Amino acid sequence: MAFRHGDTAADGPLWISCDGWLTGRQPARGRDGRDIWCVGADSLQGVSTRDTDWEGVRLHVVTGKGGAGKTTVAGALALALASGGKRVLLMEVEGRQGIAQVFDRPPLPYEERKIAVAPDSATQPGGDVYALVADPESALLEYLAMFYNLRHAGKALTRLGVTDFATTIAPGLRDVLLTGKAAEAVRRKKAGRPVYDAVVMDAPPTGRIGRYLNVTSEVSGLARVGPIRTHADTVQRVIHSPETAVHFVTTLEEMPVQEVLDGIAELHELAGGGIPVGGIMINMVRPRELPLSQLRLVAAGSVDEHELALGLKAAGLDDTRRLAADLAAELTEHAVAAVGQEEQRRRLDEPGQPCYELPMIPDGMDLAGLYRLAAALHEQGAA
Ligand SMILES: Nc1ncnc2c1ncn2[C@@H]1O[C@H](COP(=O)(O)OP(=O)(O)OP(=O)(O)O)[C@@H](O)[C@H]1O
Ligand SMILES: [Mg+2]
Repeated sequence: MAFRHGDTAADGPLWISCDGWLTGRQPARGRDGRDIWCVGADSLQGVSTRDTDWEGVRLHVVTGKGGAGKTTVAGALALALASGGKRVLLMEVEGRQGIAQVFDRPPLPYEERKIAVAPDSATQPGGDVYALVADPESALLEYLAMFYNLRHAGKALTRLGVTDFATTIAPGLRDVLLTGKAAEAVRRKKAGRPVYDAVVMDAPPTGRIGRYLNVTSEVSGLARVGPIRTHADTVQRVIHSPETAVHFVTTLEEMPVQEVLDGIAELHELAGGGIPVGGIMINMVRPRELPLSQLRLVAAGSVDEHELALGLKAAGLDDTRRLAADLAAELTEHAVAAVGQEEQRRRLDEPGQPCYELPMIPDGMDLAGLYRLAAALHEQGAA
């Protein structure tokens, strides 16, 4: 059965020609929630439906070992989620201005600001990514203004250093203010419609993620009743609901992978039925130079230096013995690393969560690289 660009039924899928991120075989979901099936511009042949793996998730929490690429991947995920005319808020909670760096912008204030657009396709506008650098003090002042109408008192408290004091002596309060800001953005509505289709949080590293998200128990020592408690309970409901997914970023090395496995186990074990675990984003993946079967042989020491030297000599090179020894050592090192990475991949399969692979951008990350990572997430169904 053949379809043409723009074909549609009243409540059926919409058919479009492939372009932009949809090049090849990547159908998408329409703004109205309808499936968009992708047809090759020439063949006009339907290919397959596209459902992302996280339909219904509105709060994407991105964690992982320090330096594994949390901020970068959170930025790429926000871009990917914004495709198809969506509006996404990317939130930073550690006050490090990592988002500004990733998007090549000057430092961002405590204010929701548009920082990027997802690419257009022929039929759909690209969406918008907004950013917010949240810090506990600003969140506390906003909270006082919102719930107690205490804007002026808040300013006086800041002058007296009380907000610093409050957020320093009660780390649980800091966390609930930040997660509370994310929960508020998820729930915010205008004219009956959510203001943001999704919120992506560049969250603290794996070692702190359980405590950070386990809002209720963290504030229970602080407030048993009253507005802080009610606020914490609301935040907790959002975080424990299927509207939330905690994604783990890792490289294919032993330590970061171990942190993913420990982090997933910790989230499962938290009180209140655990916190929903999302995908595993394997970052900085390098292409394999040889098939795995050959790499295994090389790693086991099967490189024949003598034969290698003969080959180099036949190619007209001098000093082939030394060259062959260097080449063999390099090849063996590459093979040992590649085989080790396979072992890490196998470990990451164990929890049974979807895994996505993001390529190493060879000449260093820049905006073009970020869009490449976003496209990779989109193509693999993460967004
Ligand atoms: N796929 C990639 N290809 C190449 N470089 C990458 C990739 N992903 C991240 N990087 C680089 O790795 C470094 C660490 O990335 P990033 O800052 O996103 O990590 P992080 O986990 O947020 O770190 P931190 O724990 O310090 O917040 C940065 O220099 C970034 O540009
Ligand atoms: Mg970071």
